[in-house]
Amino acid sequence: VLDLVIRGGHIITAEGEFDADLGVVGERIAALAAPGTLSEARRTIDAAGLLLLPGLVDPHVHMGHRIFLEGAWVPAADDFATGSATAAAGGTTTVIDFAIQRDLGPVETVAARRGEADGRVVLDYALHPALTRATPENLAAIPALLEAGCPSLKLYMIYRKQGRMADDAVLFNALAVTRGRGLVGVHAENSAIAEYNTELAIQEGRTTPIDFARSKPNYVEAEAINRALFLAEETGGTLYIFHLSARESLTLVAMARARGVKVIAETCAHYLTLSDEVYEREDGHRFICSPPLRSRADVEALWEGVDSGLLSVVSSDHCGFDSAAKDRGRADFTKVPNGLPSVGARLPLIYTHGVLAGRITLPRMVDLLSTAPAKIFGLYPQKGALLPGSDADLVLVDPGARRTVSASSWDSPVDWTPFQGMELGGWPVATIARGVVRAEEGRCRRDGEASGRFLPRSLGGVVRAPGPQARHTAGGGERGLGAVRAKKEESS
Ligand code: URP
Ligand code: ZN
Ligand code: ZN
Repeated sequence: VLDLVIRGGHIITAEGEFDADLGVVGERIAALAAPGTLSEARRTIDAAGLLLLPGLVDPHVHMGHRIFLEGAWVPAADDFATGSATAAAGGTTTVIDFAIQRDLGPVETVAARRGEADGRVVLDYALHPALTRATPENLAAIPALLEAGCPSLKLYMIYRKQGRMADDAVLFNALAVTRGRGLVGVHAENSAIAEYNTELAIQEGRTTPIDFARSKPNYVEAEAINRALFLAEETGGTLYIFHLSARESLTLVAMARARGVKVIAETCAHYLTLSDEVYEREDGHRFICSPPLRSRADVEALWEGVDSGLLSVVSSDHCGFDSAAKDRGRADFTKVPNGLPSVGARLPLIYTHGVLAGRITLPRMVDLLSTAPAKIFGLYPQKGALLPGSDADLVLVDPGARRTVSASSWDSPVDWTPFQGMELGGWPVATIARGVVRAEEGRCRRDGEASGRFLPRSLGGVVRAPGPQARHTAGGGERGLGAVRAKKEESS
């Protein structure tokens, strides 16, 4: 007997869309069957008129983040417990966070970060170790990180003064050591130029939010990406570019791919839905994140990159600093902790600005938000798939519901949202993680235990960067949506 049947939903996977019943036994998907054919179950959810997607995988979040600013640590308002609850409320069932090296060795840093998450996190999670020291001991620890289930590193090419920067020697060696069995992700910004521009801005009294964006123009990102691509080519390693934001960077990725460099690029929901005009607003300082929000031309170029397949993933880069933390830099951008709270908003943002706007199809959305990150980071088909045997990680979406965003749209301790006032569709009705309803209507259910588990991963020689791809021309999404709307009308 099945434990759960989700009946009559319109299933969207990265490959296509169809109507089916979905059956769950324990924590796993047991069956997909023609509508109306799965009846015997302990519990039934009626999904008529709803979209049923694989639970979203967010491969770039910072839960319980802290930044060293003006001689002290500034903590985010959320932690693994509350941050993952917000993620669940937004349709996400797996998050990948970071283990950023501070005083410990890389392996010990992973263990310490697991100590912060285990017993508190409500979703399954994995970690990208971030190495911050250019020492032989650090590089020698990489094989042990692979053994510990963390085959994807993140290296900061900036934040020297915060002690987070890994220099080019670490990048070169990490790409070489992980070749064929892991990947190296980069936060790509040219440190020297950004630091120089910042010092000059301070000296000249230019410290407003738009001055922040001007201190890190597109070329600051593009130069660092160019350098990282060269090192990836030289070593044969796989490069993952976190939060690509500038149109020049896309051109570099396209050229590198054409000559066979193994590179995978991600952008984030905010770079696709906000532009640098917000820095002129009275609350512009709150939008400070790195890389900065870009021009409307960049936003359009990023959507083009999504369409062409140059961009494979849309993550959140969630960072939960509350308004008090952000407002300390109201008059001086150097005092603002960087990052935007966005983990709950990723699905409605991309559904509305992507699918409803006719830019991408529903299957392409599922690929960007779930399947591609699961495949790239070694979680597929346990995650990112609706296959018999996959974890029963599911999200039900009402394609017709529209709501205006506010900080209270999700269960979150963060008291503001960069998307305030946006009218969005694509809100999750329910999020199911390993067979358990974890969130409903934007609220995370805390009645269950904090049951998230650490996901050890392996990329065991099968890290594949996408090759040249067919364009993901929009149009099917509208068709798909039309079909669901028609179905809803029929059933009502
Ligand atoms: O501005 C960004 N991307 N913040 C995320 C967290 C960090 O410190 O990089
Ligand atoms: Zn970053
Ligand atoms: Zn980040």
